[in-house]
Amino acid sequence: MPETAAAAPDIVHCQGERFRLYLSEEEIQTRIRALGEQIATDYADLGVPILIGVLNGAFIFTADLMRAIPGDSEVDFYKLSSYGERKVSSGQVTELKDIDAKLEGRHVIVVEDIVDTGLSMKYVIDQITARNPASLRAATLLRKPDAAKVEVSVDYVGFDIDNLFVIGYGLDYGQLARNLRAIYILDEESEEEASA
Ligand code: PRP
Repeated sequence: MPETAAAAPDIVHCQGERFRLYLSEEEIQTRIRALGEQIATDYADLGVPILIGVLNGAFIFTADLMRAIPGDSEVDFYKLSSYGERKVSSGQVTELKDIDAKLEGRHVIVVEDIVDTGLSMKYVIDQITARNPASLRAATLLRKPDAAKVEVSVDYVGFDIDNLFVIGYGLDYGQLARNLRAIYILDEESEEEASA
């Protein structure tokens, strides 16, 4: 179990491994407020956007982003899996739950917690494009430019990060750590100490 659900300490342990703070709760929330304001401005003359959160990882970011957008918005969810229990993306996107809302003629914003290889985001964009939305944009809290395997355009990016394994704020390690309020990276130093 991660050590705490409520606070965002500097060090946490998950699945027997040590992780250190990478993006604080305050940094995350400040950035989300800015993204929410930007989206509100962009959609003021366009129409009410519908956010499509990609489960499971994006459930927390979707909730916080929606609440950071002043004015109307709708939400629905799409459930995919690409990582399984591993630390690296399997490269295989599996669809676990379809979107219920009708997207034809709607202003859709796909919401991801992370764009890693880009395969999941590309899959979602291709699926939604086929449903003829009036417009389609993409948002992600995190993006790893160095891990990209496919080119995918993302309109709203919280943070570009190094190619590191991250947990917290919706992102899991073997389904744990999603409840952490901050983002953590594997503490490589402690791994090196352990193997020395
Ligand atoms: C993660 C994350 C993204 C995807 C990003 O999902 O939430 O959807 O991987 O990786 P990619 O850019 O390499 O496709 P995961 O498959 O771990 O499922 P989860 O959201 O349920 O944790």
